[in-house]
Amino acid sequence: MFDFRPAPDCPKPEAYRQLVEAADALTTGEPDAIANMANVAALLWDFLPDLNWAGFYRMVDGELVLGPFMGRPACIRIPLGKGVCGVAAADAETQLVEDVHAFPGHIACDSVTNSELVVPVIRDGDVVAVIDLDSPSKARFDSEDREGIERLAEIISQRI
Ligand code: SME
Repeated sequence: MFDFRPAPDCPKPEAYRQLVEAADALTTGEPDAIANMANVAALLWDFLPDLNWAGFYRMVDGELVLGPFMGRPACIRIPLGKGVCGVAAADAETQLVEDVHAFPGHIACDSVTNSELVVPVIRDGDVVAVIDLDSPSKARFDSEDREGIERLAEIISQRI
């Protein structure tokens, strides 16, 4: 129904600009958090090459619980401070991990994952979710990815 994908040769900052614009268009005026996270997960999957997982964990009663995603079935509950997602949520800080096997306590939901970017979604000072991107390539994510996903997290923070 929608095709928001960037051109294959689109520079990364421009692709993220388009991704954020598409996420804004898809979620504006829609109050249902699950619908909005599902569409954003689908956009991430469409826009970003070389991923094996893209989606959300939500903060529910003090732990992270699996939300809408694209990719293989994943761990359902992650305690705060555990794994890359749990550290991002506990510290309210983005985690850009070039090699997940070197990250203490990394939770291996899929053995194919080698690098990971996890960005907290913060609403009114509280972490309400994290956006988790996994790649089979080492060092797949850089500062442009970080900035793009942090901007996305800001845009959707009131809509999930
Ligand atoms: N590897 C993650 C767990 C989530 S899955 O990758 C989808 C972590 O250590 O937080």
